[in-house]
Amino acid sequence: MRKKIIAGNWKMNMTPSQAVELVNTLKPLVANEEADVVFCVPAIDIVPVTEACKGTNIQVGAENMYFEESGAYTGEVSPDMLTDAGVKYVVLGHSERREYFYETNADVNKKVLKALEHGITPIMCCGETLEQREQGVTMDFIRQQVKVGFQNVTADQAKTTVIAYEPIWAIGTGKTATTEQAEEVCRGIRACIAEIYDDATAAEIRIQYGGSVNAGNAAELFAQPDIDGGLVGGASLKADFGKIVNYK
Ligand code: 13P
Repeated sequence: MRKKIIAGNWKMNMTPSQAVELVNTLKPLVANEEADVVFCVPAIDIVPVTEACKGTNIQVGAENMYFEESGAYTGEVSPDMLTDAGVKYVVLGHSERREYFYETNADVNKKVLKALEHGITPIMCCGETLEQREQGVTMDFIRQQVKVGFQNVTADQAKTTVIAYEPIWAIGTGKTATTEQAEEVCRGIRACIAEIYDDATAAEIRIQYGGSVNAGNAAELFAQPDIDGGLVGGASLKADFGKIVNYK
């Protein structure tokens, strides 16, 4: 039985002081023994948020990470910086990073490998544009993202990794994929993992849905057999996130 994982992706929101205030508001609302609860926060918020989350069930994640160990990469954040600050998860290959910062599948793969090497769990994002969905190439596109993203990742490592399926047209638009659409792609991603590795790996890997998840649609989405939780943007910045975490 896979444990649900419900993660907030704060994106470029919350100054350090706002972040601590938000954690203090959400802390009592997100207690849930049955799910992993993760707050993926801007790099500058990681240290104060980790401090504010001490003694709670909240785990802290980063929103990005560079694939080199250290050195002359101005503005980047290294895996050691994240682990030293107490980070357990990192969102990699979000569609916003692919679109605005030109991250390729190969870059995402390097980051996935580096995160795993350092014991940080990647939340690797994939998802199609509206145009691709209308052209009927959704699964071809996502299979490519997953296959390249997981190159040289061992089966044992893959089992610990999280994949987030986020249809780009559903992000921040209020336009959630239907439960059937979300489940169909998550099932397809699991089948792709079974092809790359084996059924046991596919059965263990956790696959989230992301894209306009809110307190009203979480229960139905998370009840699907291949959806193991959610990656939540806008609604993770509000008290609603407590309802999403306690969706049952
Ligand atoms: P929204 O929940 O705001 O649509 O964002 C989804 C997302 O991109 C999470 O990574």
